[in-house]
Amino acid sequence: MEFEKIASVLISKEDIEKRVAELGAQISKDYEGKEPLFVGVLKGCFIFMADLMRNVTVDCSMDFMTVSSYEGTSSTGAVKITKDLNQDICGKDIIIVEDILDSGVTLKFLESYLMVRKPNSIRIATLADKPARRKTDIKADYACFEIPDAFVVGYGLDYNQKYRNLPYLGILNPELI
Ligand code: XMP
Ligand code: MG
Repeated sequence: MEFEKIASVLISKEDIEKRVAELGAQISKDYEGKEPLFVGVLKGCFIFMADLMRNVTVDCSMDFMTVSSYEGTSSTGAVKITKDLNQDICGKDIIIVEDILDSGVTLKFLESYLMVRKPNSIRIATLADKPARRKTDIKADYACFEIPDAFVVGYGLDYNQKYRNLPYLGILNPELI
C-alpha cells in the first residue's frame, strides 16, 4: 500500500463513482421542479460534494459551513460552528452534505440549528453511514455506503488532516493510530 497507515481499501474508486452517480440521479428525480441548496459541511465533504453535484441535473446552488467536533479519531461531543452560511435560507430546500454520519451528534445539531431559519425542507446526504456508533435519532435521506465501525479515510476524509487525497475509502491501521 503506497500510504503506510492504510490497512485496506474498504470502497474502491470505481464503486464510489458508480454509487455517487446513482445518488445524484435519485436527487435529480426527487427535486424535479425545485432548486435545492446544497450545504456542505467542511472540510470532509469537499470531494463528495463536488462529484455529487456534477451528477445532479436540476438547477441548484451551494454553500458551505464549517463545524468542529472531532479531534484525532474520537468525538469531543461538542459541536462548534466556525463558519456559518452567509445567505437567507428561508423557504429553501436544503440538502446538507456530510462525509460521514457517525454518532449523529453533528448532523442533529446542524439540522436544528438550520431549522430555526425556516427552510422549506432539510434533507441529509452522506457518503458514509456508520450506524454502529449512533447516539441520536438522526437518519440520512441519501447515503452512499453503510460502513462498519472502523476509522475510514480518503475521498475527503482525514486522519489529522492527512489522507483526504486518496481516491478510495480506506481503513486506517488501528495499531498505527
Ligand atoms: P458525528 O459523530 O457527529 O461525526 O456523526 C461526524 C464527523 O466525525 C468525523 N468522523 C470521521 N472522520 N473517519 C474520518 O475521517 C471516520 O471514520 C470518522 N468518523 C467520524 C467526521 O468529520 C464527521 O463529519
Ligand atoms: Mg466532517
